[in-house]
Amino acid sequence: MKKKALIFGVTGQDGSYLSELLLKKNYEVIGVMRRSSAFNTARIDHLYALYPNQFDTSYGDLSDLNSIERNIEKFEPDEIYNLAAQSHVGVSFEISDSTFDINAFGPLNILQVLKNKGFKSKFYQACSSEMFGISPPPQNENTLFQPQSIYGVSKVCAYYTTRYFRQAFNLFAANGILFNHESPRRGLNFVTKKITIGIAKILTNEIKILELGNLSARRDWGFAGDYVEAIWNILQQDKPDDFVISTGENYSIEDFAREAFNVVGLDWKKFVKSNVSRYLRPSEVPSLLGDSSKAIKQLKWKPKVLFKDLCLMMVESDLKSFNLTLDEAKKIAKKL
Ligand code: NAP
Ligand code: GDD
Repeated sequence: MKKKALIFGVTGQDGSYLSELLLKKNYEVIGVMRRSSAFNTARIDHLYALYPNQFDTSYGDLSDLNSIERNIEKFEPDEIYNLAAQSHVGVSFEISDSTFDINAFGPLNILQVLKNKGFKSKFYQACSSEMFGISPPPQNENTLFQPQSIYGVSKVCAYYTTRYFRQAFNLFAANGILFNHESPRRGLNFVTKKITIGIAKILTNEIKILELGNLSARRDWGFAGDYVEAIWNILQQDKPDDFVISTGENYSIEDFAREAFNVVGLDWKKFVKSNVSRYLRPSEVPSLLGDSSKAIKQLKWKPKVLFKDLCLMMVESDLKSFNLTLDEAKKIAKKL
């Protein structure tokens, strides 16, 4: 019998990588996605064709309890991965009610269904290093949560809700506290992707200058493809537990810009402008740096792709989407 996984947030960056991983492990994967007026399946379209008998999607929304119940009852999954969220920290300052609703009540809705209907599905909750907020680095499972946004607060809520259901009702419910992870599939308004696609736009004359916000914040950036392996691993443990997943290195936004522009031989300073009045957040998280000793020991997990290779992977992929090879890009860059 194939194991069955239900993924909330299947259309997102992590949902697409996790689906690929589980399908390769011979799972049957059902992705829950919300209705959208424009197609939102670009990251998973290839999977319908590649795995016609193993992969499918079903409509559902984290703020619609009835749809959660319907999906769990219909598919009776062995494992449920809740990756769905309003995942943009900056945007959470503007749409705080819905961010809180989706990110905090969403997992509560899923856990209530599991408990009330007696399902034994294992449950994974996507938590975040953003929960640590202004707690000084390095951060691990014992670090104080001091979130600096409603996004961070909502994830702290989700974290404690997951632990509560585990402790009070004996559910297999686990939290992954993941630090920033990126990829060619990263959403367009996160800073790494904004920089790497910005480089391709500069080289093709679509823009002259790239506007960013705070350049001094530091982040611990890993590769999403590596991180979904940790996510899967967390649900394969004998006992449910919470794990920090990170690379253990951190760099500033300025460092990322320098490294990424350097891939094509450009000096970032000539092309990046900091527009703080537009992009500065009311409260910032200055420095995230994960200590994943527990995951390394217990999950036997460690990241394969580190900072420089991540920059290179993302720049090359964005050049490709503009029909440019790295060599062609370097030639154009010399003339700028
Ligand atoms: P993402 O690309 O923004 O994907 C978020 C997913 O959630 C999308 O599939 C989105 O659907 C879905 N979603 C949003 N609201 C929903 C709702 N009301 N009902 C059902 N689905 C909904 O995020 P990601 O980078 O893959 O991250 C996955 C999870 O990990 C998120 O919970 C995020 O907060 C957390 N996390 C991410 C990172 C990171 O660095 N990537 C680090 C720590 C934690 P649409 O496609 O329709 O928008
Ligand atoms: N998005 C964005 N756009 N961020 C910018 C920009 C810009 O133009 N300029 C500077 N930044 C700074 C932000 O202020 C922040 O300090 C840093 O770059 C990273 O911003 P994001 O890439 O938006 O990521 P994040 O760290 O806020 O949140 C991501 O990581 C969290 C884990 O720590 C998201 O993936 C969250 O979902 C995730 O939980």
